[in-house]
Amino acid sequence: MKSITIAIDGFSSTGKSTVAKQIAKHLGYVYVDSGAMYRAVTYYAMQHGFIDNNHFNIEGLVENLKAIIISFKFNKDVGFAEVYLNGVNIEDDIRTLEVSSFVSKVAEISEVRQKLVEQQQQFGKDGGVVMDGRDIGTVVFPNAELKLFMTASAETRAERRYSELIERGNTVTYEDVLQNVQERDYIDSNREDSPLTKAKDAIQIDNSNMSLQEQFDKILQLAKATL
Ligand code: C5P
Repeated sequence: MKSITIAIDGFSSTGKSTVAKQIAKHLGYVYVDSGAMYRAVTYYAMQHGFIDNNHFNIEGLVENLKAIIISFKFNKDVGFAEVYLNGVNIEDDIRTLEVSSFVSKVAEISEVRQKLVEQQQQFGKDGGVVMDGRDIGTVVFPNAELKLFMTASAETRAERRYSELIERGNTVTYEDVLQNVQERDYIDSNREDSPLTKAKDAIQIDNSNMSLQEQFDKILQLAKATL
């Protein structure tokens, strides 16, 4: 059986990563969370003072990009690969609302995108990969055998992200989460370099009223049809 590339793009908090992980596990593929890589660069920028009190030193960050080494390591207890920044596990640190509120500004920087896209293409060079993000089907893997574009209403997405953050022990309000989701969608869709857009050959899935099982079944069916 051939190993295909599955590209899953879409707006923030559409549940892309949850279903991507399940599909990858089922097919024995590698799952790559490309958003975690943009979050890792953002976290680095915050830790090193390039983002401070709403001031963003873009030049400083770009000059230091070489010092940022991002890797993934499979954690069998959780069943997926966790993200590491310069050898340190930062899986939990990158999911905060603080990182979320800066990440789209970091993701606008072409030098950052170039570095991360190169690494993402390396991860997927042999196929057998499920990658989710904003530009996977348009820029990273324009020849992916299966491209999906996930959508859901902003309110549904904010509710999901809010519950996730509360479960992780973060103190946030639903209104702040909704505002963040809408702001990120706006910046991600309107930036100059690789804006979030549905690839012409992507299949759109609105999962506002779909259960996880229904999404999984639908995507698996689509994947099997291309195998
Ligand atoms: O997927 P997640 O919501 O964790 O992504 C965080 C942010 O990273 C997005 O809002 C977007 O600004 C950026 N991103 C991107 N391109 C990708 C993946 C994520 O610009 N392929």
